[in-house]
Amino acid sequence: MRDPAKEVMEKAYAKWAPVYDVLCGPVFLNGRRAAAKAAHEVGGRILEIGVGTGLSFDDYDHTTQITGIDISEPMIARARERLASGRYPFVKELRVMDASALDYPDASFDCVVGQFVITLVDNPEQVLSECARVLRPGGQIILVNHLYSEKGIAAAVERLLAQKARKVGLRPEFPFQRLADWARSHGGAELIERRKVKPFGVYTLVRFRRAERERVAA
Ligand SMILES: C[S@@+](CC[C@H](N)C(=O)[O-])C[C@H]1O[C@@H](n2cnc3c(N)ncnc32)[C@H](O)[C@@H]1O
Repeated sequence: MRDPAKEVMEKAYAKWAPVYDVLCGPVFLNGRRAAAKAAHEVGGRILEIGVGTGLSFDDYDHTTQITGIDISEPMIARARERLASGRYPFVKELRVMDASALDYPDASFDCVVGQFVITLVDNPEQVLSECARVLRPGGQIILVNHLYSEKGIAAAVERLLAQKARKVGLRPEFPFQRLADWARSHGGAELIERRKVKPFGVYTLVRFRRAERERVAA
């Protein structure tokens, strides 16, 4: 099945924006917290791609500097409303932007976080390469997502739901292997962690480190 089209996502998240916090906030809570905790350990300048309504702001503090981007104008508008509360002075910038074409110079961030977004983008490999480009050497990409079950009944159900899920801006059938393959072929990033998020293990946290030097193909 093809990657989701950008326009489909924009349309879907325009509809999600007013109800997202109530319906999706609690569902993704433990995944978001795990990713933000891992990002916090890296610290410094953090870019969140697909920041959505800014639900993760509560998971950061003044020791970090957060930049958020999202392709959906209505989702970013919600994040700006949250920012206007004055509770998040460490959030530096929120912009409407496609994660596959980041408008930031090379090596501008210490960490790039993607919470429940990498499976939704048109061309995840391009997005990952953009994330790696804007990272300083030694910086990390941290992703959290539901990833494809690969075998068994869950895999069959996910494939069945896939087509309908796409229209509402979800994608249950995305294999971990695709992320691992990207890291192997990229030359400037290495996979450093893959773990299930406790307590239920529904979500997977994946970390990559930007290499200090590009690997040269043998
Ligand atoms: C499931 S929501 C997750 C939002 C937030 N990260 C959270 O965990 O609450 C997915 C978000 O990714 C955004 N998105 C989808 N494709 C994108 C792209 N190509 N570039 C940037 N954001 C994108 C959507 O607009 C949406 O806000």
